[in-house]
Amino acid sequence: MTRALITGGTSGIGLAFAKALASDGYDLVLVARTPTTLAEIKSELEREYGITAETLAADLSKRPDLDAVAERASRGDLDAIVNNAGYGLRGTFLDNDLAAWEAQDDVLTRAVMVLSHAAGRAMRDRGSGMIINVSSVAGYTTMGVYAAAKSWTTVFSEALATELAGTGVHVTAVLPGFVHSEFHRRAGLNMSWLPAAGWLTAEHVAGRGLSDARAGKTLSIPGAVYQVAARVARIAPRPLIRGISGGFASRRIKSN
Ligand SMILES: NC(=O)c1ccc[n+]([C@@H]2O[C@H](COP(=O)([O-])OP(=O)(O)OC[C@H]3O[C@@H](n4cnc5c(N)ncnc54)[C@H](OP(=O)(O)O)[C@@H]3O)[C@@H](O)[C@H]2O)c1
Repeated sequence: MTRALITGGTSGIGLAFAKALASDGYDLVLVARTPTTLAEIKSELEREYGITAETLAADLSKRPDLDAVAERASRGDLDAIVNNAGYGLRGTFLDNDLAAWEAQDDVLTRAVMVLSHAAGRAMRDRGSGMIINVSSVAGYTTMGVYAAAKSWTTVFSEALATELAGTGVHVTAVLPGFVHSEFHRRAGLNMSWLPAAGWLTAEHVAGRGLSDARAGKTLSIPGAVYQVAARVARIAPRPLIRGISGGFASRRIKSN
């Protein structure tokens, strides 16, 4: 029996990963903050796919909760871990309280580091495993703390993939563009200005992420539009990236 732990596995991209893995016969360990949603998703997945789902209610910005999830990840019975939980904050760096940014960063980066360490050691000892970190193409831009955290996630994943090369453990960073999920509504962002061509589905992101991970790819960028955008962003002069990012960020603030 194969088993995967997914953080933020109750909504959007994480739920799409949960369904894709369950349909491949994986038992699941679902991590999120809201116990009622965890219970609903557990029953739905067990009923639809005939798998077993454990649930762990944890706020990954809180160290004791994170440690409990890390303990679960270190037991040596996981074939895959998907570090996916995350959220965005509306507003500029100086206009929001520092505590809000610190909590966001704890979820977007510290939790990814701690859980990759716990699961990575156990997987290396077993000689097999798959670590998938959900990053973002925003990490190639300069759009605030969120972009900086996603840049960290991509670089961290590439470094860990290099460290684990030849051990049987594969690491993949998934870099989506805009995805239909609860993300923007929760952040209070009005995205009605974005054309349909700019949107991806969570199912597409998870499906592509899993096939790239299984193919041993370190970076997975779903969608042709974002593959081109990422390629351009990697070679474009940084002043141009800063200019485009600044214009984009102010447009987002104005439309909210
Ligand atoms: N949507 C996009 O356009 C987009 C684009 C690129 C990358 N991403 C990344 O994709 C990942 C998933 O986002 P999504 O779009 O699927 O958002 P979503 O639909 O809002 O789902 C977020 C999930 O994370 C959980 N979560 C949030 N805060 C948490 C915390 N402090 N501790 C534990 N779990 C927490 C949520 O459950 P609870 O609220 O119950 O905890 C939920 O299951 C994030 O890392 C995001 O940065 C999203």
